[in-house]
Amino acid sequence: MTSSPLQHADPSLQALMEKRPNLTLTEQGLSMSGVALSDIAAECGTPCWVIDATFLRKRYRLLKATMQATGLDIALHYAMKANSHLAVLSLLATEGAGMDIVSIGEFEKALHSGVPPAKMIFSGVGKTHQELTLAVSHAIGQINIESAEELEMLAEVCTHLQKKVPIALRVNPDVDAQTHAKITTGKAENKFGIAFDDALALYAKAQAHPYLEPLGFACHIGSQITNMAPFNVAFERLAGLVRAAREQNLTVKTLDCGGGVGISYRLEEEGSISSLAACLSQHFSGLDVKISLEPGRWLIGPCGVLLSTIIRKKKTSLTTFLIIDAAMNDLLRPSLYEAWHGILPLRTAAFSQPQEHVAVVGPVCESGDTFSSDRVLPHLQPDDQIAILDTGAYGAVMSSTYNARPLATQVMIENGQWSVITPRLPLSALWERETIPFTETET
Ligand code: LLP
Repeated sequence: MTSSPLQHADPSLQALMEKRPNLTLTEQGLSMSGVALSDIAAECGTPCWVIDATFLRKRYRLLKATMQATGLDIALHYAMKANSHLAVLSLLATEGAGMDIVSIGEFEKALHSGVPPAKMIFSGVGKTHQELTLAVSHAIGQINIESAEELEMLAEVCTHLQKKVPIALRVNPDVDAQTHAKITTGKAENKFGIAFDDALALYAKAQAHPYLEPLGFACHIGSQITNMAPFNVAFERLAGLVRAAREQNLTVKTLDCGGGVGISYRLEEEGSISSLAACLSQHFSGLDVKISLEPGRWLIGPCGVLLSTIIRKKKTSLTTFLIIDAAMNDLLRPSLYEAWHGILPLRTAAFSQPQEHVAVVGPVCESGDTFSSDRVLPHLQPDDQIAILDTGAYGAVMSSTYNARPLATQVMIENGQWSVITPRLPLSALWERETIPFTETET
């Protein structure tokens, strides 16, 4: 029998399970697409990232089908910053995805995983001369230009190489995406994009250049957006811009509508991709443009968990702390954005045990190393294991080795099997690139 949960604004363990169809409770405990997570934890140790490839494939296909159903010409360019593991990239590449890249490293990783440069879009406010040169030399599909200064540098690079490159101007629609300030990108005060009022003059300048081929406009207003209203405003502005450009005899063939659709971490509903599709249809059908989307989090966020083991249960007069072996160096989101991630025990029996209020913290020497300062969980003990949910996006990619903690193992599940896709970083790797200069030698 399930004990009644303590009063709390958070979703119950059962409510968390219900919203995550790839997670089930079996005799072997919490399972992900048919694999018992405790088997992985037992063999690989913790902390350990797990990516559910079966679920990722399903979400990619659903997104693709939903966009195809609009009748618009919509291409998906996965924002690989969300999770750039080669296994993830190659899975999505085989599904036909292009990539949204932001650095030379991402370019090389995407190439290595089988994505042709023609299917890459290069985003980012600070592309260097070296990065632009590489992109142009490899005949990249599109470079999204974020400023007049960047356009000038690109023109110089193309002229020097005598190569033409397709570009889009990323515009800043000055729209509040109603998300966390640190991941809001489409407001006038943000560093991103070109002011709407400057866009057409710059576009005309680019169109007149022999080595620049402006295809259209791009826009990305932020991340973890679950209410579609901000997209509606941004798309309306983009459609207006296309019409205004054509009135000035500028050629506009494409619109890159960015990423940003959010997922359900806590009580919020997942951003609706059918509402997004409806919004795209409303503003862009009849406009005769090709559309790109750059989804990251929506695709892979819900496909990952971080497994961890309770090291110690420490009681003070104020708080019961569960000190776990994962920390802010592994999953930075709670420390950086006060992000809420669901936590489930791996043992099935724990789901029906009495519950208590606990603070879930890591071992790193900072009070900010806190996954939750107040969580209702079953009575858990040292050596019990937990899964921290929805860590597929902006999880492992944002890890560091702070406190000399080696980067955790990564595992992928597909078709009821699992496989290590990155072994835990050996301790010696923490210092093997370091040298000790200026050492005095005794004479
Ligand atoms: N396109 C561009 C130009 C972007 O800057 C981003 C994300 C995306 C697409 C993908 O957005 P998504 O679909 O994943 O929302 N580390 C933060 C999120 C940073 C997002 C940065 N840009 C977090 O953990 O919440």
